[in-house]
Amino acid sequence: HEEFTKVKNIATIELGRYEIETWYFSPFPPEYNDCLNLYFCEFCLTFMKRKQQLQRHMKKCDLKHPPGDEIYRSGTLSMFEVDGKKNKVYGQNLCYLAKLFLDHKTLYYDVDLFLFYVLCECDDRGCHMVGYFSKEKHSEESYNLACILTLPPYQRKGYGKFLIAFSAAYELSKKEGKVGTPERPLSDLGLLSYRGYWTRVLLDILKKHKGNISIKELSDMTAIRAEDILATLQALELIQYRKGQHVICADPKVLDRHLKAAGRGGLEVDVSKLIWTPYK
Ligand code: COA
Ligand code: NA
Repeated sequence: HEEFTKVKNIATIELGRYEIETWYFSPFPPEYNDCLNLYFCEFCLTFMKRKQQLQRHMKKCDLKHPPGDEIYRSGTLSMFEVDGKKNKVYGQNLCYLAKLFLDHKTLYYDVDLFLFYVLCECDDRGCHMVGYFSKEKHSEESYNLACILTLPPYQRKGYGKFLIAFSAAYELSKKEGKVGTPERPLSDLGLLSYRGYWTRVLLDILKKHKGNISIKELSDMTAIRAEDILATLQALELIQYRKGQHVICADPKVLDRHLKAAGRGGLEVDVSKLIWTPYK
């Protein structure tokens, strides 16, 4: 298998204020084979071999945020929606960058077919990418997320859960009654993040809810796919099978214990801060 022979090529990248050690191989064009370090423009994601090139580039580049529509703003946090068809080079550069931190994904698909949701921390110098997720424009498998990445300097601050929550909130806000699920396989960290997110969302509802609730109702309320809900609740041993039916156990003490174990809630997605520009 060809993938196994691919040794990590780029050791570090410079992006904005950060020098970042890479994790995995990424298939940069052959003319970059001899580089250990790459210098990225943090706004257009053009990458260069030398720091002087980047410095020259930064004087000319007039982008101060990802090349797309700002679809969410709350405090200093903004989300941009970038159409891979309108911004092909940006989409490709983002994929090269992301692959440095993704083990198993093959990124040879056509960026035309994807939307990229780029999360930024903004200040007076511009909007600095902290992470992103991608989404197929038309997914037959109803995937609402293809790839997700938080850049290493920003990890473990709740941005991963925010990106996951955002992908669901965005589906819900369309009011199409669509449920979604992330593309498989998930990495270990991806699965941990999703498990944490699903656990928190579902258990928060179960805690507040009075009376019966079905998996279908939970799915409609959260845009989480029924299979993912069942798997999450089963992993927590909250499902019993009685008389041919799944019954959810919602003992408040048990729920609290699981909620505590699920980690922090992450940053809230404030749905009222969505700036609505539907994809045409
Ligand atoms: N060790 C153990 N648990 C970890 C972890 C680590 N290094 N990183 C994340 N987690 C778990 C924790 O449960 C964490 O919740 P907690 O901090 O409240 O305990 C939860 O995942 C999510 O943390 P969060 O801060 O919201 O996520 P993040 O911003 O660090 O991003 C990923 C999570 C998956 C996006 C990030 O690890 C990443 O980009 N990884 C590389 C790319 C990748 O694997 N993407 C998924 C492909 S399917
Ligand atoms: Na991960």
